[in-house]
Amino acid sequence: MGTIIETNNLRAYYITKAYGVERTVKAVDDITLRIQEGEVYGIAGESGCGKSTLLRILLGAYQPPLTVVGGEVIYHLEGETMNAADMTEEQQRDMKWRTISYIPQGSMHVLNPVRRIRDTFHDFISAHRDVTKKESFQLTADYLRDLGLPEKVMASYPHQLSGGMRQRVTIALATILWPKLIFADEPTTALDVVVQRGVIQMLKDVQQKEGSTLVLITHDIGVHANLADRIGILYAGKLVEEADTKTILENPRHPYTRYLIESLPSLDSREERLAIPGRPPALDRPPSGCRFHERCPLAKEVCKTIEPALIQIEPKHDVAVSTRHFVACHVVEEELSRGGEHVYA
Ligand SMILES: Nc1ncnc2c1ncn2[C@@H]1O[C@H](COP(=O)(O)OP(=O)(O)OP(=O)(O)O)[C@@H](O)[C@H]1O
Ligand SMILES: [Mg+2]
Repeated sequence: MGTIIETNNLRAYYITKAYGVERTVKAVDDITLRIQEGEVYGIAGESGCGKSTLLRILLGAYQPPLTVVGGEVIYHLEGETMNAADMTEEQQRDMKWRTISYIPQGSMHVLNPVRRIRDTFHDFISAHRDVTKKESFQLTADYLRDLGLPEKVMASYPHQLSGGMRQRVTIALATILWPKLIFADEPTTALDVVVQRGVIQMLKDVQQKEGSTLVLITHDIGVHANLADRIGILYAGKLVEEADTKTILENPRHPYTRYLIESLPSLDSREERLAIPGRPPALDRPPSGCRFHERCPLAKEVCKTIEPALIQIEPKHDVAVSTRHFVACHVVEEELSRGGEHVYA
């Protein structure tokens, strides 16, 4: 399985100027990722940590004040390697339509309220393929049936559908032309738990049918547990841990990831979630050293001043990307260098 999209030391900041004062929000700060063809890559982290910003950069769908100030995004698509910075807008657009689809945050509102669902599908399909209305209706009907959606949806207006059904239709719309790479930003967040399950199953079906790559953003680790092959944990614009889903759930090493996992309610429990103490830092003035140190129960002096590097911890030798485990934490690094039991034993 090769890499389909990668970033190297990517930095993307919101740079604004108001009343002569420049403000820089470091929303994506030095992120290196290798997303593998055919995998479900989950991106998790609290509100405001930069998830949507990262996705917009991966997609190449951004404009000022968001600016790439460092690093690069590289696509490996259709047998070609392309650096996003070298592509013209037209090349980007072209590649996107053919191979990439995007389910934006709050996407339940992307359906045109005054058009029937089948017409919205026709508009979309005919913009990219030379089809008659009859052909696009047939394609839509077949696809919706494949995904288990009722046929009457075709003739409905968006307001006649439930929230969960609208979200499923939106996902169907985004994937009907079988993109190789699907980006989904919080696709289940506005839905209640039962409806979420249906939407998760549908995303799984879509991804598996074509072996597409799915980059899935949600702050909900429970959704990642169900869908993702690997998870990257973002904290305040930084990637602080990355591993396969089982490792993240069963053997998280970064103190922040530990909090995220421990705050998961067990299936049958109605207990309050354990809250992470404190609040995420403001990204125009991120803390020095490790950005998590102010909230970290294990923080030492070094954490306040020196930024920890993202290091590969297990296995230490070079192995397939899918089994690598990365952590950016001084405490973990120190434990490893002593070769002893790790801190959370
Ligand atoms: N247009 C903008 N101008 C300035 N700052 C922005 C802008 N959009 C987002 N930000 C800031 O960038 C940071 C990252 O925002 P982003 O939307 O990527 O977070 P997120 O992880 O997707 O959050 P959520 O879970 O709430 O969707 C936040 O601090 C946010 O306030
Ligand atoms: Mg977001």
